[in-house]
Amino acid sequence: MIRKVVAGNWKMNLNYNEALSLFNSVNTISAKDVEIIVAPASIYLAEFSKCSGRVKLAAQNVSNFKSGAYTGEISAQMLNSLNVEYCIVGHSERRSYYNETDQLINQKLHLLLENNISPIFCCGETLQDREKGLHNTIIEQQLKLGLQDLTKAQLLNCIIAYEPVWAIGTGLTATAEQAQQMHSFIRDVISQLYDLETASSLSILYGGSCKPSNSAELFAKKDVNGGLIGGAALKKETFNEIIDSF
Ligand code: PGA
Repeated sequence: MIRKVVAGNWKMNLNYNEALSLFNSVNTISAKDVEIIVAPASIYLAEFSKCSGRVKLAAQNVSNFKSGAYTGEISAQMLNSLNVEYCIVGHSERRSYYNETDQLINQKLHLLLENNISPIFCCGETLQDREKGLHNTIIEQQLKLGLQDLTKAQLLNCIIAYEPVWAIGTGLTATAEQAQQMHSFIRDVISQLYDLETASSLSILYGGSCKPSNSAELFAKKDVNGGLIGGAALKKETFNEIIDSF
């Protein structure tokens, strides 16, 4: 059985009191068979890791270095020492605003896995790529380079998120059919790189303006195993409705 997952990426939003109050209320959500993950700003992780409840914690970013003189960075080992279970890697905002390359993303994946943290590995094409018909090529390349040299066991500890860049924060959503097509393509690529069994066990989340009005249709698709939610994760009601829409 593939795990159903709904993960909230809070990005650089919410001050401490707002974040704590939202975290506490999301922590009481009682969906049975859905794994709920929240990625708050990293300065809140230490405090939130002490609140027991329903939600698993993710970091939004990690350094590509192990330790040392890297001012401002947070290592995978540090996240592990706070019992953070997941970390988002390869998000398009990091790829574009911070020039993160596939090689750098791959280094982060390895460090996370060596420190028992499960990466939520994001891939996605830009509008330009899609208009040129390059979406499959781009996704295949991001998967091949980003997941390079991961063992099968390591890959099974990852979650994949397909996030078309043109749908992130824009209000535009991929149609359920477009999402299904891309998720199925991702499974095909993984199947070629590893094997069918591995590809069929991975949770693949959709991200990009996923909200209560479209989540049920998206999650009903065979290869869509949940969502990576930005804007709609910033309110308990909308996040809860998305979780309930499975
Ligand atoms: P969005 O963000 O739901 O606000 O489009 C999704 C994401 O960036 O993960």
